[in-house]
Amino acid sequence: MSAEQGSTSSIVPDMPETRTEAGLQHAEISDRIRGFNEAYYINDEPLVPDAEYDALFNRLIELEARYPTLKKNSPTQEVGAAPADGFAKIKHARPMLSLANAFSREDIVDFLARIRRFLNLTAHSPVEIVGEPKIDGLSLSLRYENRELVSAATRGDGTEGEDVTANVAHITDIPKTLPEDAPADVVEIRGEVYMARSAFQKLNETQAETSGKTFANPRNAAAGSLRQLDPTISAKRPLRFFAYSFGELSESLAQTHWDFISKIKGWGFVTNPHTTLLHNTDEIMAFYEELGNQRAELDYDIDGIVYKVNDFELQLRLGFVSRSPRWAIAHKFPAEQARTRVKAIDIQVGRTGALTPVARLEPVTVGGVVVSNATLHNRDEIERLGVQVNDLVVIQRAGDVIPQVVEVIVDERPDDAVPYHFPETCPKCGSHAIREEGEAVTRCSGGLICPAQAVERLKHFVSRNAFDIEGMGGKHIEAFFDLDWVKSPADIFRIEEKHGDALRKLEGWGDKSAEKLFASINERRTVPLDRFIYALGIRQIGQATAKLLARHYGSIAEWRTAMNDAGTPDSDALRDLINIDQIGPSVAHDLIEFMAEEHNRDVLDDLQAVLTIENVETPQVTDSPVSGKTVVFTGKLELFSRNEAKVKAESLGAKVAGSVSAKTDFLVAGPGAGSKLKKAEELGVTVLDEQGWLDLIAD
Ligand code: IVH
Repeated sequence: MSAEQGSTSSIVPDMPETRTEAGLQHAEISDRIRGFNEAYYINDEPLVPDAEYDALFNRLIELEARYPTLKKNSPTQEVGAAPADGFAKIKHARPMLSLANAFSREDIVDFLARIRRFLNLTAHSPVEIVGEPKIDGLSLSLRYENRELVSAATRGDGTEGEDVTANVAHITDIPKTLPEDAPADVVEIRGEVYMARSAFQKLNETQAETSGKTFANPRNAAAGSLRQLDPTISAKRPLRFFAYSFGELSESLAQTHWDFISKIKGWGFVTNPHTTLLHNTDEIMAFYEELGNQRAELDYDIDGIVYKVNDFELQLRLGFVSRSPRWAIAHKFPAEQARTRVKAIDIQVGRTGALTPVARLEPVTVGGVVVSNATLHNRDEIERLGVQVNDLVVIQRAGDVIPQVVEVIVDERPDDAVPYHFPETCPKCGSHAIREEGEAVTRCSGGLICPAQAVERLKHFVSRNAFDIEGMGGKHIEAFFDLDWVKSPADIFRIEEKHGDALRKLEGWGDKSAEKLFASINERRTVPLDRFIYALGIRQIGQATAKLLARHYGSIAEWRTAMNDAGTPDSDALRDLINIDQIGPSVAHDLIEFMAEEHNRDVLDDLQAVLTIENVETPQVTDSPVSGKTVVFTGKLELFSRNEAKVKAESLGAKVAGSVSAKTDFLVAGPGAGSKLKKAEELGVTVLDEQGWLDLIAD
């Protein structure tokens, strides 16, 4: 998806009248541009001033806007001399995570209570928090080795990002070397790349004059500028950087976040001047109000405040829940709202058959972005809002979430307002629309015969967090589906073999673009298990759950067998599945139902025939004194909470059980332990008190 918006200008003064004439002009300019490119990129010797180059380049874009077939083999489709396949990938030494959100005082009270509970602290024991603005940009990880900047990577999927090292060379907020007092080995500093509002406005003015391509907001401008395949373009864009965190470190830099920030500030990083030390909910809320009031005056966009536990030792103990730390939270500012009119209400059919009503709106700008669609979620929501076609409504948008309709201005209902009736059948395949007991969504019952569901499932399969097939967007899937080339996921991996020649001749395609697509498809013939599971689009199985499943079962074969076996009520496989942290009966039900469907098993067989699905290497913690051992915790624990104990034991390779048996290796008994302690003693199980356990697992 391109971050750049807008279209090329429609009124071009001296536009050639015929395609032939335009073609001649295009060919001549293309030749010159190619000559300049070669001189610039290969010989490092610019032949013309930038402005002249840009003017010629823009002329190509204008010609192509009027005669789109000229785009084929045009320099506008080749970006400088950069690698055609996009960015190289960098695997993060430590994953780049996201943050859970808070919206109210209550959420903050809960956040602090959760922390204290996990650490087994009393309700009033002090926990220092650092508050800092949540910068609305994109996160970046900078790696220094021997005090030299060696790489810069975007967040990507959190595990692997894009190598943008060349593109940060001109960001002056990013030091290229670290001073003598920095560790010599590895230092990874993380933070946010952003564009100042003032710079964004200037950039858009220039963009409007030159290419006509303007950016929707500073964040898109920053992303579009950093993720330029041509680093010379990045260099011209005024990007900035706030440092706020770290990745791999060969030695610890500080004991608290506060000291860490002050240390890296001393090294030349720019840290946010509003960073503040906070001690309780009242101080946190006051800080939130204060920054909220200053928000409009800042020269950069912020979308909330981030609170972090100051003490690194506590951060370490708190650890993570799936993809976000327990020790931090993002307190979001209220969503921005605007009024507009509903022109129509359409139904979208999702990959699981969910029918989602969408309000088509008169376009309106909310928080710097033009919005023309908003979700109405489901049938109940339409009833709750009482929305009718032609109504005036309030819509809101927060960050990247889909805009939604929050309220109907009933007092201003026009005479031509038309009540909306939710369909009884699927608008795409005509099957009955069914709403199950207790469910909010109405679903198309067409299942496999519904083309809309099939297409959505395929789009999900190739999407960024799934197979991430570059160059295979939603439009391509629709086209290939209509051509009958791709009906099920494995067909994607047979396009080249079965329809390669036809594709090369297809309107809008050519040898080069077809080869590029085949290459990106082939690159994905080997896929990690978690991506594979996520790509299947099973109901409720998002990225985090797919990762949990992959880690738990390790291989596609194990996973399939387990999901089959879990279909038997009261089986060990079912108990094992439900026991995975964060997987409950409802998720288990959807997994079992998916695997029970013969068609789905065929799809899996078919995919396994064309793919290599990588096993998850579970790092065997073998050097821990408790690896492979079974531990039971009992009694009232005082030095840590039961949850912390469990998480820690598991991270050391131990298994935590709920009851004592002959298989138990250790019973950790706090004060007041009763029947479990008795049983352990009878069975001769080693019994430890809390301190004994801590001593055992100490490094
Ligand atoms: S800390 C493990 N601090 O927010 C937590 N993130 O939703 C690492 N962000 O991906 C993030 N300002 O891009 C942190 N002061 C700040 C931030 C911040 C903006 C972004 C960052 C991250 C996202 C998490």
